[in-house]
Amino acid sequence: MATNIIKNEKELDKKIAECFNNLKKKFEGTEGSRCITICGGTGCLSSESNVILKEFEKQIKANKLENKVTVNKVGCFGFCSQGPFVKIYPEDTLYRTVSVADVKEIMETDILGGKIVDRLLYIDPKSGKKITKQEDIPFYKKQMRIALHGCGVINPEDINEAFGYDAFKALKIVLKMTPQEVVNEILASGLRGRGGGGFPTGRKWQFALDQKNDEKYVVCNGDEGDPGAFMDRSILEGNPLAVIEGMMIAGYAIGAKNGYFYVRAEYPVAVNRLRIAIKEAEEMGLLGDHILGTNFSFRVHIRLGAGAFVCGEETALLNSIEGKRGMPRPRPPFPAVKGLWGKPTIINNVETLANVPYIIRVTAKEFAKVGTEKSKGTKVFALGGKVNNVGLVEVPMGTTLRELIYDIGGGIPNNKQFQAIQTGGPSGGCLTINELDTPIDYDNLIAKGSMMGSGGAIVMDEDNCMVDVAKFYLGFICDESCGKCSQCRIGTKRLLEILTRITDGRGTLEDIDKLESLSKSIQVGSLWGLGQTAANPILSTLSKFREVYMRHIVDKKCDAGVSKNLVTFVIDPNKCKKCSLCARNCPVDAITGVVGKEPFVIDTNKCIKCGTCVSLCKFGAIRKE
Ligand SMILES: Cc1cc2nc3c(=O)[nH]c(=O)nc-3n(C[C@H](O)[C@H](O)[C@H](O)COP(=O)(O)O)c2cc1C
Ligand code: SF4
Ligand code: SF4
Ligand code: FES
Repeated sequence: MATNIIKNEKELDKKIAECFNNLKKKFEGTEGSRCITICGGTGCLSSESNVILKEFEKQIKANKLENKVTVNKVGCFGFCSQGPFVKIYPEDTLYRTVSVADVKEIMETDILGGKIVDRLLYIDPKSGKKITKQEDIPFYKKQMRIALHGCGVINPEDINEAFGYDAFKALKIVLKMTPQEVVNEILASGLRGRGGGGFPTGRKWQFALDQKNDEKYVVCNGDEGDPGAFMDRSILEGNPLAVIEGMMIAGYAIGAKNGYFYVRAEYPVAVNRLRIAIKEAEEMGLLGDHILGTNFSFRVHIRLGAGAFVCGEETALLNSIEGKRGMPRPRPPFPAVKGLWGKPTIINNVETLANVPYIIRVTAKEFAKVGTEKSKGTKVFALGGKVNNVGLVEVPMGTTLRELIYDIGGGIPNNKQFQAIQTGGPSGGCLTINELDTPIDYDNLIAKGSMMGSGGAIVMDEDNCMVDVAKFYLGFICDESCGKCSQCRIGTKRLLEILTRITDGRGTLEDIDKLESLSKSIQVGSLWGLGQTAANPILSTLSKFREVYMRHIVDKKCDAGVSKNLVTFVIDPNKCKKCSLCARNCPVDAITGVVGKEPFVIDTNKCIKCGTCVSLCKFGAIRKE
C-alpha cells in the first residue's frame, strides 16, 4: 500500500514521534482512558489468555466503554508460572493467575469501581504482603531487560506500538554509518553470541564484511533445541521487530540483501507474529528496496525447521534451509566465507540479534558498562525445574547463581535442599552448592565444568538422582544424533546402555572407567558440536557426584528414590494414621490394612513403584528406601 510507505528519515521521525505519543497516552491514561493488557505468550495462551482477552472485549462493549477502555495483547511477562497476567494502565496494577471467570470482577471492581481486586495480586512469599506493581515483585528486581525489551509491554502484532517503543531508531543511525563503522561498534560492545558458543559477534561480522561477494546472507537461528529453553521463542513472540531490525543492521554491516529466519515449526505463535511483522514492515517500505530512500535494500524470509536438535548447529541449519538433510558440514570453510548456497553468511542467534538495536541506540560504550570483563551485557535464562519462580529471566552477566536461584527464582519449593543447576542443556553440565557464588559469564561457567549454552537453567533438588539426570540428557542426545559420525552415533548408545545398567542395579565398578574413557573418545572423535559435547553431562555428574554413582553400583541404592529398581516403598507403622487413602489409590492393590485399626502395609512383590502413595499420604508415613 503505497500510502503507508515511509520514504525517508524525516517521515520515520514523524511516525516514531506520533506512535510514541499514542503509546504514552495509553500508558499514562491521558484523557481518563484505561488500558487492559493481557499476556499473549505461548505459556499464558495455553491457559486461555486469548479467551480472557475476548471476554474483556465483550464486557467493555456491554458496558459501552469502547471509547474509554482498550484491550491489548502483549508478549510474555517472564514470570510464566504465575500467568496468565493482566496489567491495567495507567495504575500499573498487575493481576496474576487470572482466569476467564475473574474478568467480570476485574471489570466491576477495578475498571468501573476504581478499586484493586486484592485476591488477584501477587503475594510475596517472604513478607506475605500483596504487591500491586510489577517492578516491586522480587522476581523482577535484579533483572535488566535488553533482549526482552518490549516483551510484555507492546502488542507484537502492531508495528505502530513497536515504533512507539524504539523500533527502527537504530536502523536510522546505522544508515548514516559505513558498514565498517557498524562492525566496529559491535566489536567495541563486546557482544558475544547468545546461541551457545559465545563467539564475539563483531568478529563474525568482520569476517563476512571482508569477503568480496555480491551475494551474502544473514541467518537468524531460532531453532532453540535445548530442552527447557524458550527465550528465543518469547523474544520472537514479544517483539519480533527488534530481531528483524537486528538482522537488518547485520545485513547492512556485512553487505547482505537477504535474511533468513530459521524457526522450529513447533513455534506457531512466534512464526505468525514474525510473518505479521515482516508484512507490516514491507508495507511501510522498511523492508524491500531502497529503505528510507537509501541504497540499502533488504528482504526477510522465513524457513521452518522440523525440530531436530542438530539443525540448531549452524552448518546443519544451512543444509536444512537449502532443502538438504540437516547434517553438519565440515568447517572450514566457515559460513562467513562459504555459507548459504556457498555465499558468505553470518548465523546469529535470536537473542544476539535482539541485543543489536539496543547497542546501536545507547552506544557500545554504554552497553559494555553492563556485565563482566569478558562477557558484556545481559543473558536471558529459562529458569525451570525445582525452583519456586519458573520463567524467563534476563540478568546482567556477573549475577551469581545464588542470586538467580534464590533472589529471582525464590529458592527451592517445599523446603527441599538445592542439589545442582544444569546450564547449557544437553551440551552443558551441572553446578553444585559449592558453586552458587559463581558470577555467571561464559568463561566462569566453562571453568566450572559447565557452559552458558543458550540459556536453559534447570534447578534440581535432593529428590533428583544425578545419574538419572545424566541418563535423561544422554537419551535426548541418542535420539537427536544425526548419525553422521560413528563415535557420536554408536558411542552415545553405548554410554546410555551403561547408564541404564547402573540405574537398573546391574552396574559394576568397571562401568565408571568405561563411562570416562568412552566419553573422552566421543569428545575427541566426533566431528561436530553435538557429539563433541554429548558426554558433558556424564563427565560433569561423574566429577561432582561420583558418590551417587558409587552408591548405585556398590550399595545398589538410589537415595533420591528415582532409579526404580533400587528403591523399596515402605510405610512407617508409627506414622500411619490408618486412613486407607494410599490403598484406595494404589493402581495394583499392593497396599493392605484396616481403616482406623491396623497400619497399612505395602506388598513389595506387587508394588510397581509408581510413587502415587508417597505423593498422596498427608502424614509423610511412606518413605523410599
Ligand atoms: C548441537 C548444536 C545445537 C545448537 N543449537 C542451537 C540453537 O538451537 N540455537 C542457536 O542459536 N544456536 C545453536 N547452536 C549454536 C550454533 O551452531 C551457532 O553457533 C549459533 O547459532 C551462532 O549464533 P551466535 O553467535 O549469535 O550465538 C547449536 C550448536 C550445536 C553444536
Ligand atoms: S495414606 Fe498414609 S496415613 Fe493413610 S493409610 Fe496410607 S500410609 Fe497410612
Ligand atoms: S508405589 Fe504405587 S504401586 Fe507401589 S504401593 Fe505405592 S501406589 Fe502402590
Ligand atoms: S507466557 Fe505469559 S508470562 Fe510467560
